[in-house]
Amino acid sequence: MTDARNSILVTGARGQLGRELVAALAAHGDVVAVDRAALDLADADGIVRVVRDVAPAWIVNAGAYTAVDRAETERDRAFAVNAQAPGVLAGEAKRIGAILIHYSTDYVFDGTARVPYTEDAHPNPLNVYGASKLEGERAIAASGARALTLRTSWVFGLAGSNFLVTIRRLAAERDELRVVADQTGVPNWTRNLARATAAVVACGRAYAAERAGLYNLSAQGQATWWEFACAIVGDVPRPRVIPITTADYPTPARRPAYGVLATDRLREVFGLALPEWRDALHRCVTSAAEPMPADRVG
Ligand SMILES: NC(=O)c1ccc[n+]([C@@H]2O[C@H](COP(=O)([O-])OP(=O)(O)OC[C@H]3O[C@@H](n4cnc5c(N)ncnc54)[C@H](OP(=O)(O)O)[C@@H]3O)[C@@H](O)[C@H]2O)c1
Repeated sequence: MTDARNSILVTGARGQLGRELVAALAAHGDVVAVDRAALDLADADGIVRVVRDVAPAWIVNAGAYTAVDRAETERDRAFAVNAQAPGVLAGEAKRIGAILIHYSTDYVFDGTARVPYTEDAHPNPLNVYGASKLEGERAIAASGARALTLRTSWVFGLAGSNFLVTIRRLAAERDELRVVADQTGVPNWTRNLARATAAVVACGRAYAAERAGLYNLSAQGQATWWEFACAIVGDVPRPRVIPITTADYPTPARRPAYGVLATDRLREVFGLALPEWRDALHRCVTSAAEPMPADRVG
C-alpha cells in the first residue's frame, strides 16, 4: 500500500501523454504508473482493485481509446475505455477522497463554431470517439467526484504515434505530401500538457478540489493540418506540402472543421497558459525524447 497522502496513480502510462506525465509528476509525489498490461481500463473490476490497492491521493487518467477511425467499427471498446472506465475511476476517486484528473478532446464538438469553444459551449460529436469521450466527461461529472477534466486537441510529441511523427517519417520518404487544409485546430505538445498537469497537482488537493470541473488545456494560436505539416517540414525544398480538402481525403470518422479551445478559464483559475503551438513545436523537435521510466511502470 502506497502512502495515500502523496501518491499519484497514472493510467495509460505508456501512451504519448502518459509517459510525459510520469516524468513531470515525479517531482510532486510518489508516482505509481500503470500501463494496459497492469490495468486494462476495459476491466471495471480491475480498476476497482488497482485503485483500492494503491489508494492514491491523485488519479491521473492518461489511458484512452484514441484510434479515431477504428472506433467507428469498435464502438463497444471505445465506450468501455473512454466512457465507462472514467466513470469507474471517478466513483473510486470519490470513495477514497482522491482527486481525478482526466483528459478529453475538442472532438466533442461538431466544428461549426468560428470562435474558440469555451467549456460551456454545446457539444455535438461527429464521430464515435468524440461521443465516447463526451460520455466519459459526463460520467465523471455525474459521479460527484472531485475531478478536473482537461480538454485538449491535436496532441503531438517525439514518442508514440501522432501527426508530427507521421509527417517526419513521410517527409523522409516522399517528394510530395498532401495534407488537409480545411480543418482548423491547435497542436499541443505532450510535455507542455504534462507540465501543466503537474502545475495543477502542485496547487495542492484542497485548491484543486474546490475548483473541480471542466477546463480547456491548449496552446495559443491555431493552425490547419496543412499549416502544421508545413511548420514540421520547415523551409527545406523537399517535400512539397500540397493543401487538399477533407473531401479529397475521406476517412471512416468525420472530423470537426474547427476545434480551437478557449483557455481563459484555466488561466483565471489556475494561472496557467500554454505557449504558442509553434514555439512548442520548435522546443519539441529540438528536445530529446523523454526516456521511458520503465522501473516505475507496473
Ligand atoms: N492524441 C490526440 O491527438 C488527442 C487529442 C485530444 C485529446 N486526447 C486525449 O488525451 C489523452 C491522452 O491521449 P494520448 O494522445 O496520449 O493517446 P495514446 O498515445 O494513444 O495513449 C493512450 C494510452 O492508453 C492506453 N490504452 C488504450 N486502451 C487501454 C485499455 N483498455 N486499458 C489501459 N490502457 C489503454 C494505450 O495503450 P496501448 O498503446 O497499449 O493501446 C496508450 O498507452 C486521452 O484522453 C485522449 O483522448 C488526445
